Amino acid sequence: MLFTICYISTAAELLLEEDVHALFSQTIKSNTHNDITGILIYQEGTFIQVLEGDDIFLNSLFKKIEEDPRHKQITKVLGEPIESRVFDEYLLGFSGMHKVEELQSIYLFLKKNRKTPYSKRLYAFLKPFLERQF
Ligand SMILES: Cc1cc2nc3c(=O)[nH]c(=O)nc-3n(C[C@H](O)[C@H](O)[C@H](O)COP(=O)(O)O)c2cc1C
Repeated sequence: MLFTICYISTAAELLLEEDVHALFSQTIKSNTHNDITGILIYQEGTFIQVLEGDDIFLNSLFKKIEEDPRHKQITKVLGEPIESRVFDEYLLGFSGMHKVEELQSIYLFLKKNRKTPYSKRLYAFLKPFLERQF
């Protein structure tokens, strides 16, 4: 069953540019391989991640992510079956971002793609955070 998990968390310590790149490239590679779409945002000590994929796989991946010592205060905001993916067209699957221009482009993409109940909820959740960045 197609499922989404979305959470917000706090980095255990402020990450250096190279740590962000290492985490993003590991995550993109693994998620692309496992047919997981979504985004991982890192901005000033906060992570926001949206994951879309098979429910059984996603729930076990989320358990692993929750145990990762690189972040804490993990708060799940969405965990539900979805009718279709939002991020399958966005940058070809899974992407990581932390530059202001990248956050702006996600914001515009989400704003334009409010077609399903899930995509509307996702936009409503991410809007205040994304709008604060630019
Ligand atoms: C904020 C954050 C997000 C992560 N997101 C993913 C992810 O989407 N996919 C993934 O495979 N690993 C992700 N990881 C890494 C996992 O926690 C874990 O290190 C990775 O799955 C390695 O698992 P392995 O021991 O099976 O190799 C993330 C880590 C952090 C700190």
